[in-house]
Amino acid sequence: MRKNIVAGNWKMNTTVAEGLELAKAVVAQSKDLGENVSLVVAPPFTHLVSVAEALKGSKVSLSAQNCADKASGAYTGEVSVDMLVSANCTYTILGHSERREYYGETDAKLVEKVKLALAANLSVIFCVGENLEQREAGKHFDVVKEQVANVLFNFTAEELSKIVIAYEPVWAIGTGKTATAEQAQEIHAFIRSVVAEKFGAEVADNMTILYGGSCKPSNAKELFACPDIDGGLIGGAALKAEDFIAIAKSF
Ligand code: PGA
Repeated sequence: MRKNIVAGNWKMNTTVAEGLELAKAVVAQSKDLGENVSLVVAPPFTHLVSVAEALKGSKVSLSAQNCADKASGAYTGEVSVDMLVSANCTYTILGHSERREYYGETDAKLVEKVKLALAANLSVIFCVGENLEQREAGKHFDVVKEQVANVLFNFTAEELSKIVIAYEPVWAIGTGKTATAEQAQEIHAFIRSVVAEKFGAEVADNMTILYGGSCKPSNAKELFACPDIDGGLIGGAALKAEDFIAIAKSF
């Protein structure tokens, strides 16, 4: 069945000590959270081992923000899926627009990364989303369909059960400009139909699709009430435990 997930993408923020404090606050405040939502935090690589320790025995899962497109070897500066698993990660975010835009992450590279992640038994939060120019030109449906097809259509229905899609319109990320609930619902339903067309209605029904882009306590309720929005990938608001948990309580 479809899961509700609220995932915090810390991006390149916090020192190890600050991250540890944030993780502990999230754990403490998540105690009275209902069973209807799963929490995930995605700290920087340097924090994973100590944050994993802080999450032990809690209901908060650990995610990386990226992984290498190679399994191991002479790839200076890269972090492999096996390293992430050995640091107790159960998820990795892949294809975030910041990685696509600033680090030249292509669909072909993402196929390799998703393959490696799934083979290592990591769940994947796979990000898609159009930029402002594409939205204004009315191309957002085509752009998102292409991102889903180019990467996820290389996998089987069974493999898809380990993948969560995060729809994040680039124009809403870190800008304070949220997609309206109508805009978000419209494209989430479309993404589900794209998945259904290829993999069938059951797979699409079971797919968790998150919204990301200036999601905060004040707008989460309206977004999460939409039938095809199963939670959020939260950036800025995930850096404050109270806001992150308030968002998770919005279901
Ligand atoms: P934001 O980031 O919530 O700060 O807009 C979301 C994301 O990029 O995952």
